[in-house]
Amino acid sequence: DAPPHTPQYRPAHHFTPAQAWMNDPNGLLHHNGTWHLFFQYHPHGMTWGPMHWGHATSQDLMSWQEQAIALAPDPLGMIFSGSAVIDVHNTSGLGAPGQAPWVAIFTHHDGEAEKAGRIDREHQSLAYSLDEGRTWQKYAGNPVLPNPGLKDLRDPKVFWHAGTARWVMSLAAGDHIAFYASPNLKDWTQLSEFGHALGAHGGVWECPDLMPLMLEGKQHWVLLVSLNPGGPNGGSATQYFVGDFDGQRFTPHDTHTRWLDHGPDNYAGVTWHNTAPRTLLIGWMSNWVYAKDLPTSPWRSAMTLPRELSLQRVGEQLHLSARPAQEVVQRLSSLPTTVASLSTDASVPGDALRQADGRFAIELTAPSLQDFTLTLSNDAGDALHIGYDAASRQYWIDRTQAGLSDFHTDFAARHTAPRISTAPEAQVSLFFDRSTVELFADQGLTSMTSLHFPSQPWSKCQIQAAEAMREGRFELRSFE
Ligand code: FRU
Repeated sequence: DAPPHTPQYRPAHHFTPAQAWMNDPNGLLHHNGTWHLFFQYHPHGMTWGPMHWGHATSQDLMSWQEQAIALAPDPLGMIFSGSAVIDVHNTSGLGAPGQAPWVAIFTHHDGEAEKAGRIDREHQSLAYSLDEGRTWQKYAGNPVLPNPGLKDLRDPKVFWHAGTARWVMSLAAGDHIAFYASPNLKDWTQLSEFGHALGAHGGVWECPDLMPLMLEGKQHWVLLVSLNPGGPNGGSATQYFVGDFDGQRFTPHDTHTRWLDHGPDNYAGVTWHNTAPRTLLIGWMSNWVYAKDLPTSPWRSAMTLPRELSLQRVGEQLHLSARPAQEVVQRLSSLPTTVASLSTDASVPGDALRQADGRFAIELTAPSLQDFTLTLSNDAGDALHIGYDAASRQYWIDRTQAGLSDFHTDFAARHTAPRISTAPEAQVSLFFDRSTVELFADQGLTSMTSLHFPSQPWSKCQIQAAEAMREGRFELRSFE
């Protein structure tokens, strides 16, 4: 029996498929003002199954239109995660005269080989589109990069490396990342390996992404690596390394493990192709620990808000900052705003929140960051607590009382994130979208993404702030 539908949990400003199961974002590509999002999709079920690439498009990064399924399983296997590029110079020869093909590079996962006990079940393959992503053909010569004998070898992320004038691929190889290069997307040569003895290794490495980012006039390289399990708050999470890439080898600046997002619900995030000089990421807003148990119907899973990535210096170290994309920020600034001071143990005045139907943003600013607790509640007695603890220098989100949680024993929990910034002032933005909250603190130096399933929309908001924070202010923007 299908469970009752749960429109009250469907985010309005994040992508969700109309129905069925979704996981990782794939093939992110920007072209002519349109944002393309492909995604791991099982159209015939509410749990993970034979993977397809679904497809959605957006003009503004907040409202999404679902398109026809792009790629379906074939005799070589299921269609696992990967990336897509516009092959401007038709290096692949897959284009027509005068027409740059779009090329998707993905993993074929051969479930039959796996059942037969064969280790070489994952191969890298191509598909191409000559009509701007509407329809796709699989390349006749697949796989282009056969498996050399590794159990896990997947999630190719490809970009054009200008320095060596060739394509470079990052590939997740179980406990490390393998880098490959190609002149034409078809013939690949291994360049190097990274990570056997570095970073977090509580689980398998997945969904890598290597990208250049400028800071202080100098180019650095950031490598994202998703890890499952072994995240800082349990289960799935994405770590990153800051270093150099010489066209052959990635060398990190140091041996620290850093996390893209300390919340439990941001996984497999990768960046868009063709957005230079900007770098934009979107992640799967879930966690493999309980993804298949989440109480939504007739769909399962949403993507995060798109985030702008940049490097920031904190002391001697470089950190990644992830902030909501500029498009999101602009949209928010056009919304009706309620302002309150933090001086009064403020509750949000009037009915502002009641009318928001669970979709609103909150911004806290104060000259000095000290302990605070923000509590969202409803008439059903659910409460979501979010705050900062100055003694441990941690932001935290406590969803233990925030509504439904009995679908999985690990869901109800309090999660923490270290504060990276050393600036005195407080700057915390929170985006709520019915069953989701995304916290961005200190210009995106700390972020946390967390799901929750209140039995009614949040209708009340209270803040308790330490004396020293009370000169600050509180702004609520409602999407309704
Ligand atoms: C990450 C992942 C990828 C794989 C895909 C399969 O969540 O496990 O490594 O390609 O999901 O759906």
